[in-house]
Amino acid sequence: MTTTPLADRPTTTVAARATELSKVYGQGETQVVALDRVSVDFKQAEFTAIMGPSGSGKSTLMHCVAGLDSFSSGSVRIGDTELGSLKDKQLTKLRRDKIGFIFQAFNLLPTLTALENITLPMDIAGRKPDKEWLESVISMIGLADRLRHRPSQLSGGQQQRVAVARALASRPDIIFGDEPTGNLDSRAGAEVLGFLRNSVRELGQTVVMVTHDPVAAAYADRVVFLADGRIVDELYGPTADGVLDRMKRLDTRTVRTS
Ligand SMILES: Nc1ncnc2c1ncn2[C@@H]1O[C@H](COP(=O)(O)OP(=O)(O)OP(=O)(O)O)[C@@H](O)[C@H]1O
Ligand SMILES: [Mg+2]
Repeated sequence: MTTTPLADRPTTTVAARATELSKVYGQGETQVVALDRVSVDFKQAEFTAIMGPSGSGKSTLMHCVAGLDSFSSGSVRIGDTELGSLKDKQLTKLRRDKIGFIFQAFNLLPTLTALENITLPMDIAGRKPDKEWLESVISMIGLADRLRHRPSQLSGGQQQRVAVARALASRPDIIFGDEPTGNLDSRAGAEVLGFLRNSVRELGQTVVMVTHDPVAAAYADRVVFLADGRIVDELYGPTADGVLDRMKRLDTRTVRTS
């Protein structure tokens, strides 16, 4: 067996990184430490799920790393850019150019067709979509024959796939989803998750997804577990059973220490 010298190995690039990230809400007795010195890397072309009990800081972590929310201390990097060094306008531009979002509610505009919804962020930004890329995204979501339909003419799963395509269309460096399948039944959820996983495997997309569902988390390459604003566990190559098992252990831990 031959081994590649260390220097010749491809280095995995970090798409986003939080270092000692803290977020504190309020003051005095009403103070809530939503994030407590969290350090985490999201590597390029990796699909990460973030899990943890309600109130553990999942959405806060995602919003801070995605530049949607300010943080109290620590730092966040998207690619090579430190978010703390940006002025508001630059942050808005970075969010528009480098980051894609998928929300629990699909947030599609009812008067626009599926295709118009997909290209809307780029239309607003005055950017032309890369035609080849757009075609590969559309063919992957499997909605080529539904592009002229309006959201009300699509099923929930189809609408969420349009929302995923919209997030992918501008070819962002990283996509964040806060429970992107939370409103879908299991079959529609599986469609969207399969699609997200394909975008990572086939297109090299980076995806970070908050979820409560061990089955959804099992689509990811890695699961990061939060409790009380801290990262308490991490699992690579997760299975639904493996995730469930870790969650149970986390629950016992939380009960014991509280
Ligand atoms: N605007 C706010 N003001 C004060 N406290 C807040 C605010 N937003 C969130 N928090 C608190 O910060 C903590 C983390 O909230 P966060 O929304 O990140 O949790 P979560 O893990 O996403 O929970 P869920 O699974 O219920 O969505 C919670 O204790 C919450 O009450
Ligand atoms: Mg949340």
